[in-house]
Amino acid sequence: MQMSGLPLETERLRLRTFQSADLDAVMGYHALPEVQRYLDWKARDRTEVRAALDVMRAQTRLTRPGDVLALAVCRLNDDTLIGQVTLRWTDATAAQAELRFVFNPAFRRQGYAREAVRAMLDLGFDQLALHRIFARCDASNQPSARLLRVLGMRLEAHFREHALFQGEWDEELHFAVLDREWLRGSKVKELTRNMVA
Ligand SMILES: CC(C)(COP(=O)(O)OP(=O)(O)OC[C@H]1O[C@@H](n2cnc3c(N)ncnc32)[C@H](O)[C@@H]1OP(=O)(O)O)[C@@H](O)C(=O)NCCC(=O)NCCS
Repeated sequence: MQMSGLPLETERLRLRTFQSADLDAVMGYHALPEVQRYLDWKARDRTEVRAALDVMRAQTRLTRPGDVLALAVCRLNDDTLIGQVTLRWTDATAAQAELRFVFNPAFRRQGYAREAVRAMLDLGFDQLALHRIFARCDASNQPSARLLRVLGMRLEAHFREHALFQGEWDEELHFAVLDREWLRGSKVKELTRNMVA
């Protein structure tokens, strides 16, 4: 899949691929126990975070199903790296991809995640021509479910006690949005203007 529009820029953020100089910033959230469960790997110390960063630095394009595009989310005003948004291409024929995100707790509740995830969905539909983007989250993960709902993603499934996680029953929500349903950035602004007018 061709990607010409990187880095992405929004009102307050830049979404770019990861660099080796990002180690300290990534360490700042990957190594936190509360963030660990949302990552694909154990990243508890500098060596493990460096290994995770090396993986993400290579996730710069989607060439075959299974590939991941990993983008670092940085604030435009001070270039601080505040989190990450990823897209995993799961199915080429049906043009499906999975969205994931993690933000440093120090930068939450300011609308940054919403702004960054919206930009990634725009990229997925407009540049990568995806047909459907889905996201999974734990049923008790209210901030994540709220974010996905606010962005207009539909709750398609609630899997009850479908797995055991650290000895406890796990419940999972699946959200999705289709290309034709996605409200692009400009349309959202138009809608907001109309609502305010
Ligand atoms: C899920 C997660 C990214 C949500 O982060 P978040 O900071 O709550 O999300 P946002 O940045 O969009 O912030 C939204 C909040 O900021 C508020 N806000 C403040 N200023 C804002 C602004 N300028 N624009 C929009 N919202 C703003 C919103 O009102 C909202 O608060 P509310 O929930 O009380 O309505 C974060 O909790 C996280 O990283 N969790 C761990 C990883 C995870 O759960 N991943 C999911 C698996 S894929």
